[in-house]
Amino acid sequence: MQEILPRLDVETIVCRVRELLTQRRLWRGDGLYSRSFEERFAALCKRRFGALTGNGSQALEAAVDALDALPGDEIIVPAFAFIAVAASVLQRGLVPVPVDVEETTFNLDATRIAAAASERTRAIIVAHFAGCPCEMHAILAAANSRDLPLIEDGAQAHFAKYGESTVGSFGLASCFSFQAAKTITSGEGGILLTDDERVIRRTRAFINYGRDPDDCGYDHRFLSSNARLPEIAVALLLDQLDCALDDNETRMRSYQDLAETLQRIPELQLQQSTQSKSTHAHSLIPVLLPAWMSRSQRDALVDSLKRQRWPVRAGYPLLTQTGIVRSARARGLISADQESRIEEADRQVAVARRLAGSLVVFNHSILYRKPDELAGLAEHLQRFIGEQRASESALCLS
Ligand SMILES: Cc1ncc(COP(=O)(O)O)c(C=O)c1O
Repeated sequence: MQEILPRLDVETIVCRVRELLTQRRLWRGDGLYSRSFEERFAALCKRRFGALTGNGSQALEAAVDALDALPGDEIIVPAFAFIAVAASVLQRGLVPVPVDVEETTFNLDATRIAAAASERTRAIIVAHFAGCPCEMHAILAAANSRDLPLIEDGAQAHFAKYGESTVGSFGLASCFSFQAAKTITSGEGGILLTDDERVIRRTRAFINYGRDPDDCGYDHRFLSSNARLPEIAVALLLDQLDCALDDNETRMRSYQDLAETLQRIPELQLQQSTQSKSTHAHSLIPVLLPAWMSRSQRDALVDSLKRQRWPVRAGYPLLTQTGIVRSARARGLISADQESRIEEADRQVAVARRLAGSLVVFNHSILYRKPDELAGLAEHLQRFIGEQRASESALCLS
């Protein structure tokens, strides 16, 4: 996928990096910038604490680790989400139970949580797909009624809002990614936010080989690894916070124009925003193709768009369409019964299955392109669908 960095003030970044080099403070342990970034990012999301991690996946792993769940315990996850969500659960010997998503927002459908929960359910993870906030009232109600902690994956939704609340301000912990395709980026990077002192101390230990966060000696209290982010990455991130909200607005305006054009193609379905008042981050632009188009026709469309240098991918596969559940079983992380539980849950996710076969997803960078380029994109989509329809009709007649 072709990505662009957001507006970066290169001079400021060079000064920040020079400072790190001259003071030789490249490492998290005695770095110059990490603490202040954590505090600023947490404050912007109305959280008490933040801990930077090497990437967003490690932030999710730290959040799942902080649940203190036992092997075989279950975590409800959206059936349509980037693999890191389910992987963070399996890595810790827990069972991700995929729950279908809404036809409109493509986010976890709160009305399906009750049927998916069992006496082994220990938490719910939601992911705000493409920057669209999940229906948090309904999700929190479902979580609270079962006394289940909630983890938010905001990797695609920096500073999106649900009502007056910023994404990342809900539940026990929230996680973000700063990977290259994200709207705030240092190439790789992540952060965990929480209001809970126990969770932040656990996370600070988690990213540092289980060490006591107040003591960088060799007192390793639990099994974990190194998930620290280098200071140079933080030097890249710091100033992006100043323009992130403006950038969100720029993308929102550009998306409105693009959506207006795409809506003129009746066979396409766009992601709808949450019913309640919300502000989308538009980190990705999902476009759902008509149901009569096959997966291979969708893949051919993606290929043709890539040839024209559009940053685009197909929708995420279902959990059981990947090798990760099988491999977790082979490694003894989950049992055969638990593998069957995941397979059974995955058979019931009709909306996610359709998205896996029929969605195309553009990177947010297209929203910075010129209007005539975006008009060209709409024409390409319309032409491709027309050609596929014509060849389907010809096949029917022959
Ligand atoms: C929803 C979601 N969660 C988690 C991640 C993992 O983040 P990272 O790539 O920084 O490990 C991503 C990254 O693409 C993501 O989109």
